[in-house]
Amino acid sequence: MDEHPKLLLQPPLLLLLLLLLLCAFLRCDGDVSAVGDPGMRRDGLRVAFEAWNFCNEVGAEAPGMGSPRAADCFDLSVKHSHGRERPGRLPLRSKLHYNSSSLRLRHRVAEAHNKLGMGQSFPGVDQNTLRNADLYAAQKEVFLGSLCEVRERPNPWQFWMVMLKNGNYDGRSGLCPQNGKKALLPPDSRKFPCFGVGCMNQPVLYHHRTEISENGTMRGGFNGTYELGSHFTEDGIGGVSFYEVIWEKKIGFGSWVFHHKLKTSKKYPWLMLYLRADATKGLSGGYHYDTRGMLKTLPESPNFKVRFTLDIKQGGGPKSQFYLIDMGSCWKNNGHPCDGDVLTDVTRYSEMIINPETQSWCSPNNLGACPPYHIMPDNRKIYRNDTAKFPYSAYHYYCAPGNALYLEAPVSTCDPYSNPQAQELVQLLPHPVWGPYGYPTRQGDGWIGDGRTWELDVGGLSSRLYFYQDPGTPPAKRVWTSLDVGTEIFVSDQDEMAEWNLSDFDVLLESTKSYFPPFH
Ligand SMILES: *[C@@H]1O[C@H](CO)[C@@H](O)[C@H](O)[C@H]1NC(C)=O
Ligand SMILES: *[C@@H]1O[C@H](CO)[C@@H](O)[C@H](O)[C@H]1NC(C)=O
Ligand SMILES: *[C@@H]1O[C@H](CO)[C@@H](O)[C@H](O)[C@H]1NC(C)=O
Ligand SMILES: *[C@@H]1O[C@H](CO)[C@@H](O)[C@H](O)[C@H]1NC(C)=O
Ligand SMILES: *[C@@H]1O[C@H](CO)[C@@H](O)[C@H](O)[C@H]1NC(C)=O
Repeated sequence: MDEHPKLLLQPPLLLLLLLLLLCAFLRCDGDVSAVGDPGMRRDGLRVAFEAWNFCNEVGAEAPGMGSPRAADCFDLSVKHSHGRERPGRLPLRSKLHYNSSSLRLRHRVAEAHNKLGMGQSFPGVDQNTLRNADLYAAQKEVFLGSLCEVRERPNPWQFWMVMLKNGNYDGRSGLCPQNGKKALLPPDSRKFPCFGVGCMNQPVLYHHRTEISENGTMRGGFNGTYELGSHFTEDGIGGVSFYEVIWEKKIGFGSWVFHHKLKTSKKYPWLMLYLRADATKGLSGGYHYDTRGMLKTLPESPNFKVRFTLDIKQGGGPKSQFYLIDMGSCWKNNGHPCDGDVLTDVTRYSEMIINPETQSWCSPNNLGACPPYHIMPDNRKIYRNDTAKFPYSAYHYYCAPGNALYLEAPVSTCDPYSNPQAQELVQLLPHPVWGPYGYPTRQGDGWIGDGRTWELDVGGLSSRLYFYQDPGTPPAKRVWTSLDVGTEIFVSDQDEMAEWNLSDFDVLLESTKSYFPPFH
């Protein structure tokens, strides 16, 4: 007998091997993923697209583009020599020694589904909403979700969401309510970019359905522009706005890499592009309709972390508020969860901005742009008037909900138009006070040329942020319905391009319970 089998059969080694194998299945670290596709490693991708106008609605569809919701969802299947296909998970062997000509992508969403536009019926559509572009899009998202859904028990999930938003606002359009109320007077339009009638339009959308290439790489994408009728594919993208998300993965290896590009133009100087993990049902951040997404369990402060790899190629200029992480939720000023009543629901956002050119608006001379207090990791509270101790440069800007009744002066209230309801923003900048949570501590951390894998204690940090509540009301449960990475180019002075790769995204719920993977 040779040495090898004898070694393996020694009881302590065998035990160790068994333990390692067991750990691989039960995740001995005790963390459970809150997303359907932990770390973006699933070969059968689920990704969708949504475009929002200034107040997170549709307004009007772009001609020929249908309702601005689309999806690319597929499963990988093996075609055997006898011609039959075997759907679902690939056997380990074919993952390692795949032969691309024997693999197929079985798409679940047809281009006809993606092109569905107002007036066209689909399963589950409420006939009364066929003529309303806003409600139609919300129902189309739910329908695409039904095609993409992965029916894991107990929590089914649907897709990652690419979210694109046009920051133009035409005050005379009457399209956006003010803190959720129908606006009586048109707002001061000079405050918002708009080139004239039609500036709030939806974009052109091209979809490149995911394909598999000879070398076993899968690739697909969405792209387009807001300049309707511009032949940007032939002309190049000079002078017009552009957005693109390309996803790529080698079968059986690593994570999907989402490659993003966002470019502003003279007519569209304020654009946003994010990849979001949204709730799989109910509301998501800034969206007051039933949503579909990736967060099969909603993370609650303080017990969760967010992990991802971010590699920024181009920043998008001085106005690009690049969000290392943007979290969105909703609760009322009395601490109750939101219920879709836009008059009392309040969207709550917190964002860590990592563009080193972003200044701190909060300062000892501008207390109205700071939250009333900061809470240290040891739970010490520091008031913003404590000029010796308050970490002013840790905050870009704080603004309070426009419908809050008991605000502490001085205060600035958030833009009342850019959400379907009132909103509150807590915008952070890299600073040593965020270090204990694994967040960037210095300006430039994680920026161009400093690609990193982050493990952010988003739960711990967000449990200690100030958010407004009416005095004497029980603290709201901070349950987060959207976690996003991407940029908001906030009214650029010239055409700017941002470009970045995102991969390995995961949301980890801290738990001592062991985890049994879903049975297949
Ligand atoms: C890949 O699979 C196809 C069909 O099953 C077969 O004809 C071909 O020879 C295989 N190629 C390689 C490189 O194994
Ligand atoms: C946008 O996508 C289309 C279709 O996939 C492609 O032909 C075109 O080259 C892309 N445009 C740019 C500017 O990358
Ligand atoms: C695989 O093939 C595609 C398309 O032919 C190509 O763009 C890509 O660079 C190749 N990837 C690798 C890892 O060889
Ligand atoms: C970023 O994504 C693009 C497109 O998928 C790819 O060509 C490039 O190599 C990626 N860069 C890194 C560092 O992963
Ligand atoms: C600072 O602000 C707190 C809370 O608003 C207040 O109670 C306190 O009196 C203020 N201190 C000073 C020195 O103004």
